[in-house]
Amino acid sequence: MDLKFGDVQETALIPLAIKASETARPNARIKDQKAKEIIETLGVDVSKYDPFLSHEGVIARTIMFRDQIKMLLMKYPNALCVNLGCGFDDKFPQVDNGMVQWYDVDLPDQIAVRRKVYSDRPRCKMLPGSALEGEWTKQLPKADMNIIIMEGVVEYFSKEQVKTCLNMLCDCFPRGYLVVELHSPFLEKHGKHHDAVRHTNATFGWGTKSGREYLALEPRLKYLSEHSFNEEMKKYTLGGKIFSVIGRNINNRIAVFKW
Ligand SMILES: C[S@@+](CC[C@H](N)C(=O)[O-])C[C@H]1O[C@@H](n2cnc3c(N)ncnc32)[C@H](O)[C@@H]1O
Repeated sequence: MDLKFGDVQETALIPLAIKASETARPNARIKDQKAKEIIETLGVDVSKYDPFLSHEGVIARTIMFRDQIKMLLMKYPNALCVNLGCGFDDKFPQVDNGMVQWYDVDLPDQIAVRRKVYSDRPRCKMLPGSALEGEWTKQLPKADMNIIIMEGVVEYFSKEQVKTCLNMLCDCFPRGYLVVELHSPFLEKHGKHHDAVRHTNATFGWGTKSGREYLALEPRLKYLSEHSFNEEMKKYTLGGKIFSVIGRNINNRIAVFKW
């Protein structure tokens, strides 16, 4: 299969490779047959994208994002969900309640690549669009509640780009939740040593100590919650437990905002 990537799009191979390798393990904590199938079809060695800490982090975040979205869908079963910067992620079947309207959105070249391995499904469609402008949102159906998911995306944005993205979301969706992965100033500074991302040309953008820093960029947002991936990671391995202590303020977090 012929897949071509830009520098940030290439990072989408990291969670894909990790979910594929976890699925192949006995006692897999998450199962993603589609990821396994795509990696097998690619037929390339992606082991450099699957070192221990990134592996544990991606498993933790996959579980935490899934559980958070399921909780929101219990409250708003008819919500419109947008997986913004979806890469190769296949969250829809993990959370589908039979009613949700789901859109997998990414940059046009990434959606073109995604279309080689995914098809549109009933209530789950792909759409090219950028987190930095809102024209594409005009193609979405109107919904009483919108849930925007950004997993592994804003880490690559400058502060100015994060502001543009937050302003766009509040302008284009009358009501919504944002479920977003945040990273630390430490990673912003030392990201070139990241165990998986250093194998790509991508660089980390603006890191935050707290999601509350977003409120200054977009006053319409309300800050609801924030949890370190350590909370999930420390449950499984000694390495995860140790990292949750030494990397207490370093690991990425899942934050939820509302407007
Ligand atoms: C590390 S990948 C994460 C993919 C997916 N969310 C996951 O967790 O598997 C980063 C993704 O962000 C996308 N991305 C980068 N800039 C973007 C933008 N301005 N708008 C939408 N997506 C963007 C990339 O194309 C890539 O698919």
